[in-house]
Amino acid sequence: MTIAPALPERPWLGFGLGLRPTHYETILNESPAVDWFEIISENYLIPGGRPLHYLDRIRERYPMVMHGVSLSIGAQDPLDREYLRQLRALAERVEPAWISDHLCWTGAHGLNAHDLLPLPYTEEALKHVAARVGEVQDFLGRRILLENVSSYVSYPESEMSEWEFLRQFAARADCLILLDVNNIYVSSVNHEFDPHEYLDAIPAERVWQFHLAGHRNHGDYIIDTHDEPVIDPVWELYAAAVRRFGRVSTMIERDDNIPPLAELLAELDRARSIAASVRQPVGVTTVSA
Ligand SMILES: [Fe+2]
Repeated sequence: MTIAPALPERPWLGFGLGLRPTHYETILNESPAVDWFEIISENYLIPGGRPLHYLDRIRERYPMVMHGVSLSIGAQDPLDREYLRQLRALAERVEPAWISDHLCWTGAHGLNAHDLLPLPYTEEALKHVAARVGEVQDFLGRRILLENVSSYVSYPESEMSEWEFLRQFAARADCLILLDVNNIYVSSVNHEFDPHEYLDAIPAERVWQFHLAGHRNHGDYIIDTHDEPVIDPVWELYAAAVRRFGRVSTMIERDDNIPPLAELLAELDRARSIAASVRQPVGVTTVSA
């Protein structure tokens, strides 16, 4: 039996953006005030060409983290060893601060649903996913972060809330958490729960990264599209998350309808100022004894 090393202190990267090809040249020409970039791992699992050329040049200037969409950690199919080998090779090249994916399943029987589907929140699923995370972490030689996905459906089989599942899962798998604040908000509207209750349940020491993103509101339900600016209720929830978890590396995640970099930098500045105001409330001074 191997004894897992103690959980290290949470690293602080600052405020980052998702690296998107449309911004490659601007980043190299203007060296924008971004503290770090998150790459979509799958975009660089190729032997060469333009993406890797830019990746290496931008990596010389900025810290990076790797974010994947293909792990399908909750699926029944065996883990894709070839994918993991490629991921490990990319990590050797990028030397990311960490590697993340989603707490979800993306297909069955070799078919890819091209969606990040939620798990049933059951003891059986907990056991299944925690064991698979152990396998991945052993293979990669590091703890990974798993992200809460937004959802529109729930399973009658579920035995606990999503936040209780995530809390138990992280401890049992001994992994880390990428908390997507927008996803919590989206699911809280779709499933009518209190997002603050969610935040309160999550173990602070395992939360290493926040995602902030926009979405589409269809009235009765919300689709998590990542193609709009962050909305005010999500900013408010972000402030609550900073209050609850402290200093956590934060990034704006825009996957579609990608605006000029300047617009994302403005959103990132908003995140910076919210985090600063939460951590140093206006009018409050510290008096030492
Ligand atoms: Fe996300």
